[in-house]
Amino acid sequence: MSKLCVIGTGYVGLVTGTCFADLGNDVTCLDVNETRIENLINGIMPIYEPGLEEIVTQNTESGRLTFTTNFEEALKGADFAFIAVGTPSGDDGEADLQYVRSAAESIADLVNDPIIVVNKSTVPVGTGDWVTEIINKRRAGKPLDFTVVSNPEFLREGSAINDFMFPDRVVLGSINSDAAKSVAELYAPLRCPVMITDIRTAEMIKYASNAFLATKISFINEIANMCEEMGANVSEVSRGMGYDHRIGTQFLDAGIGWGGSCFPKDVKALAHMAVLHGTHPQLLQAVIEINRNQRRRVVLKLRKALGGLDDKVIGILGISFKPNTDDIRDSPTLEVIHLLQNEGAIIQAYDPQAMENAKKELKRVKYCENPYQVAEGADALILATSWNEFKQIDLKKIYDLMNQKIIVDGRNIWKPEVMRDMGFTYYDVGRGTNGDTEK
Ligand code: UDX
Repeated sequence: MSKLCVIGTGYVGLVTGTCFADLGNDVTCLDVNETRIENLINGIMPIYEPGLEEIVTQNTESGRLTFTTNFEEALKGADFAFIAVGTPSGDDGEADLQYVRSAAESIADLVNDPIIVVNKSTVPVGTGDWVTEIINKRRAGKPLDFTVVSNPEFLREGSAINDFMFPDRVVLGSINSDAAKSVAELYAPLRCPVMITDIRTAEMIKYASNAFLATKISFINEIANMCEEMGANVSEVSRGMGYDHRIGTQFLDAGIGWGGSCFPKDVKALAHMAVLHGTHPQLLQAVIEINRNQRRRVVLKLRKALGGLDDKVIGILGISFKPNTDDIRDSPTLEVIHLLQNEGAIIQAYDPQAMENAKKELKRVKYCENPYQVAEGADALILATSWNEFKQIDLKKIYDLMNQKIIVDGRNIWKPEVMRDMGFTYYDVGRGTNGDTEK
C-alpha cells in the first residue's frame, strides 16, 4: 500500500485517485477549488461519470480516500505526487501549462522526503524535463530526491472507471527505470501490459494515440461524404473494413464528428508542436478541417431541406459531445447551434445529462424537458448525440408533434427505411439517404 497525493480533481484526477484508493492505496485528492472539495467531502460529484459516485463514497467511507485544498496536508508523507491538472488549449492550440507549473512549484516548496512525481495530465513532449527543471531550480541549494515519471491517461469520458480498471496498457516514461517500476507496482493489481520507455516517448504516445483515433473518425467521415455522392452505405463500408484485424471496427462510426475536452485540444496541440519543431503536420490539419466541415454539412442539409433557416424552428437532440457524459466542451452540437442561430434559426434543445452545463454556455435556446417537447412545432430535428434514450423514442409521436417532418440524424442511430416509411424527410451521414422520402 502506498501514499498518493493526486493534484487536480477533474475527470482524470478524481477517477485516478479514487481507483488507486480502491486498489488499496492511501490517497489524498487535492484541488484549489474549495467548493469542489467541499462537495466531494459531502459526496457531491463535480462531473457526471457512470459509477463514480458509488466508488468515491465507498473509498471515502473506508478512509482510504480524502479530499483537501491544503497542499501541505496532501503532500505530507506521500510516496507519489500525481499531477492531474487541466492543460487547456492556449492560442493557436498550444497547451497552457500554468497549472502544471504551479503544481510542480508547490511540490518543490513543500516536499522534503524522496518522492516520485507522476505527470498524468496530457502534456506536450518535453514537459517532463521541464517539470524536473522547475523543481531543481526551486530547490537550488536544498536538493530534493525526486524523479518525474510520465504516465499518460487513456480514459474515455462515460467509461473512465472501466478504462482505468481494465486498461489496454499502462505507459510509463522516465529517465530512472526504478522510479518507473515503482509506479508500475501501483498498477500491478490490474494485471495489464505495462510499457516502460523514456519520458518524451511516453508523452508522444499519448498525443499520437489520440490523434490517430481522431484521424480514424475523420477518415470515415470523409468516406461517408463520398458515399453520399456515390450511393454507398458508410455503415456497411466500415463494417466491411472492420473485418480486417489491422483496421478493426472501433472509431469508424461516421457522424457529425469528434468533440470533447481531449481530441480537439490534443490534435491541435500536436499540430502546434510539429510546427514549433519545424515539421508540417498536413495530415493533422486535414483531420481537423474534415471534422470542422462535418458540422457545417449538417447546416447545409437543413438549409437545403428548409429552403433557408431564418425563423425556422430547429429541435436539437443531444448537447454533450458523446453519450453517458454531461461534458459539452467542444461538442459538435455547440458549433451547429451557433451556425444555425447565425442564420436566424430558432433553437429548442434537450440532453439527458448536459442541460446544466449547456445553460451556462448556450444563450437564446429554449431548453426542453424531453425529446417530445423538442419536436413540438419544430420544422426540423437534428440528432446530435447518440444517447440510448433517443434510440427508443416514439417516432410516431415525434412525427405528429413536428410542424415539418425533416430529420437530420447526425449519428446514424435510426434506420433509413423505417424513417422513410413513416414519411420523414430523413437525412443521415453517408448511408445513401439524402432526404429521399420515396425509395
Ligand atoms: C478520448 C480517447 O478515446 C481517450 O483514450 C483519451 O484518454 C481521451 O480522449 P473521450 O474524449 O472521452 O476519450 O471520448 P471518445 O469516446 O474517444 O470520443 C471522442 C469523440 O469522438 C466524441 O465526440 C465521439 O462522439 C466521437 N466519435 C467516437 C465519433 O464521432 N465516431 C466514433 O466512431 C467514435
